Amino acid sequence: MKKIQIAIDGPASAGKSTVAKIIARKLGYVYCDTGAMYRATTYAAQQAGIALDDDAALKAMLPTMKLEFVPDEPEQRVIVNGTDVTRTIRLPEITNNVSVVAAQPSVRADLTKRQQDIAAAGGIVMDGRDIGTTVLPNAPVKIFLEASVHERALRRFKENQEKGIDTPLEVLEQEIAARDKKDSTRKISPLTKAPDAITVDTTSMGIEQVVTRILEIVQEATA
Ligand code: DC
Repeated sequence: MKKIQIAIDGPASAGKSTVAKIIARKLGYVYCDTGAMYRATTYAAQQAGIALDDDAALKAMLPTMKLEFVPDEPEQRVIVNGTDVTRTIRLPEITNNVSVVAAQPSVRADLTKRQQDIAAAGGIVMDGRDIGTTVLPNAPVKIFLEASVHERALRRFKENQEKGIDTPLEVLEQEIAARDKKDSTRKISPLTKAPDAITVDTTSMGIEQVVTRILEIVQEATA
């Protein structure tokens, strides 16, 4: 079977990365988490003491930023300039600031190019916000994963509890709604569904069901 590009977009906590990782493993594809790239860039900018909305300073920093994904279990490692930031980029100081960095034109241009290079050979499952619209507009499979704000906050709440993080559910709902707003109203590459993407609403679906549905779509596209 030919190895294609699979684009998975959708709002925060819709289950994109969980589902994308499983699909990549089942198909023997590479998984690329583009959100981690925006998070890693936010980390690099903070380390460099750059104001997160200073597009010119970010533009100057980006050519020197080395960003690598290293396969590992249970999760891929994210390495920035030689430092393993896999865990650090999930901390609130990154999560609450990444939207600002992701709205800067130079950052989007640079990371889009890196993502296109990673995906060029096919055999890739890439998740993000603008993969089907901007990064891989010709991807043969485009999925738009959705779930209600309440359901997404609940999922994040459960994940947090496992990690010993105690943010109240209402706060998570507010944070998710705020991130949705920022991601979908920014000028460049806002979160929007590509016209040819297939929507999968996961609000009342389990992970297995979502994976099965997407694999059916992949099967049809590669048949
Ligand atoms: O999926 P995530 O929460 O790790 O994404 C982190 C941030 O990066 C989020 O605010 C949206 C942004 N992002 C983006 O603008 N474009 C992408 N392709 C992926 C993520």
